[in-house]
Amino acid sequence: MTSTSNDYKQLVGFAAADRVRDGMVVGLGTGSTAYHMIVRLGERVAHGELPNIWGIPTSRASESLAVQHGIRLTTLEAHPLIDLGIDGADEIDPALNVIKGGGGALLREKIIAQACDYYLVIADSSKLSQQLGTLFALPIEVVTFEYQAQMAFLERLGCAVSLRSQASGQPFVTDQGNYIVDCRFDGIPHADELAHQLNYRAGIVEHGMFLGMVNEVLVAGANGVQSLTV
Ligand code: A5P
Repeated sequence: MTSTSNDYKQLVGFAAADRVRDGMVVGLGTGSTAYHMIVRLGERVAHGELPNIWGIPTSRASESLAVQHGIRLTTLEAHPLIDLGIDGADEIDPALNVIKGGGGALLREKIIAQACDYYLVIADSSKLSQQLGTLFALPIEVVTFEYQAQMAFLERLGCAVSLRSQASGQPFVTDQGNYIVDCRFDGIPHADELAHQLNYRAGIVEHGMFLGMVNEVLVAGANGVQSLTV
């Protein structure tokens, strides 16, 4: 039987959940790969293997999933240091820089990632690329006020822009009440430079490039789960 992308996501999600040790504060990622990690973590909690863990979710969706699976939640105020953050990614380059935000949770995800002692990204092998921006459009979170001005600015940076929308046709609104502009570059050769330009623009809340933040990637494919580090 051929393995599907979802089989790989489950394989790697479970492998990551099995990295969690009792007593840890765990960053709970968002998306279809992190989903499997949270489910498996819930199973381990239910089996009494992890009586003293705390989770900090990266989105409302992960928060309800964690609650549903019996994972106790905490906050950065109560636990400012997260022992292990586990999250998915949309694109991963050879230096383990990643693009995130396909699920629209990039802002909370980056806040949580910055608080992690160890940040573990989980993905199926289709996410590996030689250069960021070749496989996936870069999600950029913008405030709703005069967002068209941000779209025009982003276009001038050399990408094709589109405002993310829901199935209803209405704009997608993030957990923080902002919009997402998806920016299709034909590769991002100088990610640091682009990040710098985006960071200095009023109206842009955050971008989906997580540069130099990842300690390890677990990637699942036909050869099972492999660990990548730099
Ligand atoms: C959520 O905003 C994202 O950053 C996800 O972590 C990323 O899109 C990966 O999602 P999947 O695991 O669903 O592919």
